[in-house]
Amino acid sequence: MKSLLFIFLLIVSIVSGYYCGFNYCREGQVTIQEDDGCSCVEENKSEVKITSALMGTWEDGSRGGDTFMSVEYIIINNGAKDLRNIFIVPNETLSIRDSLYSDDSIWNIIINNGGLTLPYYQNTINSNQCYKFGFIIKSKTIPSLKVASIGY
Ligand SMILES: *[C@@H]1O[C@H](CO)[C@@H](O)[C@H](O)[C@H]1NC(C)=O
Ligand SMILES: *[C@@H]1O[C@H](CO)[C@@H](O)[C@H](O)[C@H]1NC(C)=O
Repeated sequence: MKSLLFIFLLIVSIVSGYYCGFNYCREGQVTIQEDDGCSCVEENKSEVKITSALMGTWEDGSRGGDTFMSVEYIIINNGAKDLRNIFIVPNETLSIRDSLYSDDSIWNIIINNGGLTLPYYQNTINSNQCYKFGFIIKSKTIPSLKVASIGY
């Protein structure tokens, strides 16, 4: 029974990215993971923000006339601590042009389980630093991104 519960919690933690000790942060909150445990803060009090900028939008005749957008996002760490992990969720399924592994269509971020994480070559976003990433997607609106969890 105990091991079943453990497996269940493990799966939940992998799938959701919100799992925090034995608590779940509510919708509208960010999970903060630190060496000594987890806590939840209201999204609007989080020291880590994301902004977006539309770099271009076009219809591609060679791809059935679909509309594509190039979007750049900036993660801003306004906190006093260096960020070591982040899990970001988009408000819609990202329809990346080409594939998830195409450097032309996605840069400086990894898409994993529908969420976004830092690539291996970017171990931290230091205090008062920002970090840019982006992608080319088949979409007519800029997907908004939400910080689900951060780790110090
Ligand atoms: C932050 O969000 C909470 C709950 O979502 C809300 O009650 C509070 O008024 C908000 N604070 C500000 C400064 O917007
Ligand atoms: C996602 O958010 C953007 C920007 O707020 C909005 O334009 C778009 O309609 C949203 N998409 C969905 C599926 O809610």
